[in-house]
Amino acid sequence: MSTGVPGHPGEPWSRGVRRREDGVVEVAGVDVHRLAAEHGTPAYVLDEDDFRTRARAYRTAFETAFRAVGSDVDVYYAGKALLTVAVARWAREEGLRVDTASGGELAVALRAGVPGPQIGLHGNNKSDAEIVRALDEGVGRIIVDSLVEVARVARLAGERGVVAPVMVRVTTGVHAGGHEYISTAHEDQKFGLSIAAPRGADGEPAGDSPAMTALLDVVARPELHLLGIHSHIGSQILDPSGFEVAARAVLDLRARLAARTGVLVDEVDVGGGYGIAYLPGDVALDPERVAKDVARAVEAAAAELGTPLPRFSIEPGRAIVGPAGLTLYTVGTVKPVALDDGRVRTYVSVDGGMSDNIRPALYEAQYHAEVVGRASDAEPVLARVVGKHCESGDIVVHEVLLPGDVRSGDLLAVPATGAYGRSMASNYNLLTRPPVVAVRDGASRVLVRRETVDDLLALDEG
Ligand code: LLP
Repeated sequence: MSTGVPGHPGEPWSRGVRRREDGVVEVAGVDVHRLAAEHGTPAYVLDEDDFRTRARAYRTAFETAFRAVGSDVDVYYAGKALLTVAVARWAREEGLRVDTASGGELAVALRAGVPGPQIGLHGNNKSDAEIVRALDEGVGRIIVDSLVEVARVARLAGERGVVAPVMVRVTTGVHAGGHEYISTAHEDQKFGLSIAAPRGADGEPAGDSPAMTALLDVVARPELHLLGIHSHIGSQILDPSGFEVAARAVLDLRARLAARTGVLVDEVDVGGGYGIAYLPGDVALDPERVAKDVARAVEAAAAELGTPLPRFSIEPGRAIVGPAGLTLYTVGTVKPVALDDGRVRTYVSVDGGMSDNIRPALYEAQYHAEVVGRASDAEPVLARVVGKHCESGDIVVHEVLLPGDVRSGDLLAVPATGAYGRSMASNYNLLTRPPVVAVRDGASRVLVRRETVDDLLALDEG
């Protein structure tokens, strides 16, 4: 458990988490009993200062590193990790822009007062309505993902008499990240346009790569302004070398496009994906180190290619909001189950589950949990924390040592759920989605209220 020291020895807990001498845990000065009494459980609890600290750390590290090599950088907070109006405001107040991946995320960023030019719109299949909203709001960049989309954005921009600022999302063949489903730069997946040229019957490269074809198409259309090239290589990346390889590949593509067309694009985005600690002992990616490594690599690549450095941008989501969040649950039942190997596993059921955190079921993601409402001297037992859904894969924490006296009514917290918890939540079994509660300076406030059964019934036309 954290001592609250920035730095950050307490990971995977947020900086504001500390265990008092009586064993009760506080988040930013608010104890978990008070949180549970005021907001109920399950609840997503967000440590606002931790979010802001991480946002600042990423912005400062990248700005410093890129300025040192004579370039500049914009940091976009990837809203898909968690976007609420308040969260978008925090990002903006900390000098970040906002990356959105749908009309819904775009609407939240705009509601928060993020100016259109500071918003990016992603998505591999944006609807006309989403593109139109982006154009009408003067969104700073629309990241196009296919040739169909190039034509679609051009048509809609032309109809409105505007020039759409676009980036082309390319895939560099760099695979990175913790799990195949979250590694978005494989060639055999739906995102982006490959920089690899197609092969002819003789196995030799034949014709332009899909990425080059799309870039040429954008350059040729007067309704589009080619801002730059975008590459996102995956998520939960703990080895920063992938960013360097991808950034070099993108700079190379940029130089080839310039040689073909005379257009040297101004911006290169190297995406998000910076890994965090989920378990005690995990070591998160250090923003300063990765920023320096990438800046040095792109400086060297640009020098080799003889091209000036572009402006850069990055899109961290998980690394900003993941560690800032925890989920607070109440234990309902405790059941020992005898395993074939003679061990006993204690199944601890909480009042949420795969509807508030699908990541263990979807990616076999590993989490940690602790009893946070009291101290215990009981011998630890091998436990599995499960939810209340009608599904045996409804696992919150696969394996964790919990005090042997864990019992009904205990408050249990799972750290590092700030990213892709609420944003991927569902109503499976018609559970209502938990509130998002922000905590700061000894006080809590609701950012997104708890759903009610009436909310669900209101959608059902009968
Ligand atoms: N930019 C782009 C274009 C992305 O596709 C993503 C994530 C990000 C930025 C932010 O990546 P981050 O910094 O948060 O790793 N649901 C999965 C993660 C999917 C990520 C998809 N793209 C999970 O729960 O692990």
